[in-house]
Amino acid sequence: MDKNEHNDQMPAYSEAVTSGLYAKKSGLIGKYDNVRRLWEDEVTRQFLRSHLHKLVDKCKANMRRVRIMDLGCGSADGHELLLGVRDRDADLEQTEVDLLSPDIMGLYTGVDLNKDLLNQAGSIYNSNPKMAFRQADFTKGLPLLDGEDPYDLYFSSFGSFSHHNDDETAIQILTQIAKTTKDSCLVHCDWLGRYSYEWQSLWTHDHQENRNMDYVVSYIYDKEDREERIDDLQHLNLRLMSRKEAERIITEASKRSGVHIKPLTFYDRSVFTGRHMDTGDYNPQAQPIRDAVNSLHEVNVRTDLTSLMVDYVPRQGFEFLNRYYEHIQVSWNYLVQYVSELLKLYDEDKRVFTGTLPEPPAAAPSPLVDMVIRMTKIVEGTGWYGLGLPRENIIEPQLGYALRHIVTNLQDGQGCGHGLVCILQIDRADD
Ligand SMILES: C[S@@+](CC[C@H](N)C(=O)[O-])C[C@H]1O[C@@H](n2cnc3c(N)ncnc32)[C@H](O)[C@@H]1O
Repeated sequence: MDKNEHNDQMPAYSEAVTSGLYAKKSGLIGKYDNVRRLWEDEVTRQFLRSHLHKLVDKCKANMRRVRIMDLGCGSADGHELLLGVRDRDADLEQTEVDLLSPDIMGLYTGVDLNKDLLNQAGSIYNSNPKMAFRQADFTKGLPLLDGEDPYDLYFSSFGSFSHHNDDETAIQILTQIAKTTKDSCLVHCDWLGRYSYEWQSLWTHDHQENRNMDYVVSYIYDKEDREERIDDLQHLNLRLMSRKEAERIITEASKRSGVHIKPLTFYDRSVFTGRHMDTGDYNPQAQPIRDAVNSLHEVNVRTDLTSLMVDYVPRQGFEFLNRYYEHIQVSWNYLVQYVSELLKLYDEDKRVFTGTLPEPPAAAPSPLVDMVIRMTKIVEGTGWYGLGLPRENIIEPQLGYALRHIVTNLQDGQGCGHGLVCILQIDRADD
């Protein structure tokens, strides 16, 4: 091969580089880090699953397909999130596991105020004829067109409802949803939690104070970049929401519409793993726990488990919140230490634990006890395996899921996570 022949092949590599497909993908940073995909998206799916299941069954019984409106859709990540909700009854050998299968999925309409995001969504999904996008401001009312049928699911995700800075606009949109619903629907409201540990400095007893926060989108850069770009960072004005305040909004919308709007569940998403844990922008005591969890789930990366240990610093005068966080912290740290102990005691050659395993205290909550049992089985069942880096690629990700299970089952939906989510049901048959 002469020199020119080699040069002739170079445009193929250059093209690959400009396409972005040659960039190294990592779950350790960025919008779609491991916590976003494996915790936040999945936890949202877990809480929606049973309600969505009923909705799908109802649509099937009425010989209809499901219509979804995504309020604040951005580049339509909500579509992937919702279509990834699994049918939990699926057996191990099944490959068709999606709840919203193509035959039941009717229409997804994404609504956003930002034209650039809508263009991006359009360019990603333009080949899907069951998706439509619309530019509208949801603080001006429900963006239904004249004569348009109502939707079965009004979905908002990742803090979109916090763009209702004034509760009046949130009440209005819920009132309109209730009034226009003919039969029944679900509403997924997603706010920033008022009492996230990430912004402990903003906690207040008086709900008239610190209603909106100056939210800096600093976390998309790593530490050095953040400091360099401090003046160019984007700032958003976002409503911080507690359960009590959300309940007042819902009650008022019920009253105005004359339709019962029933909260099915409230949950705190990302209690110790919100994005601002890593930046410490609003709480100097915040530890980079999201970084550590991202590492647990990263392929071929070995995590220092001590980086997962949470040291919650209480804030005086907020005893209810201090108890809430300490309760979760104690179980979280117990499991991290327990797994460290398992790794120490396991003898890979003999394939046994060479010592007595610690027993959880009698007062340990059942989600912790369950995870202790499972992690013991995981280490015992795979520690000897040798192939494919069992610690990095099996044990650590499973520890990630076990920690996720603990937080998901001990949280109480009070506004103590990065996100406070409420799933609402409107059912005309109840009225
Ligand atoms: C936190 S992002 C969430 C985006 C998307 N749902 C996701 O999961 O990535 C909030 C979205 O709400 C949109 N938004 C903000 N205010 C809005 C308004 N008044 N009306 C419609 N969309 C709005 C923003 O443009 C942005 O896309």
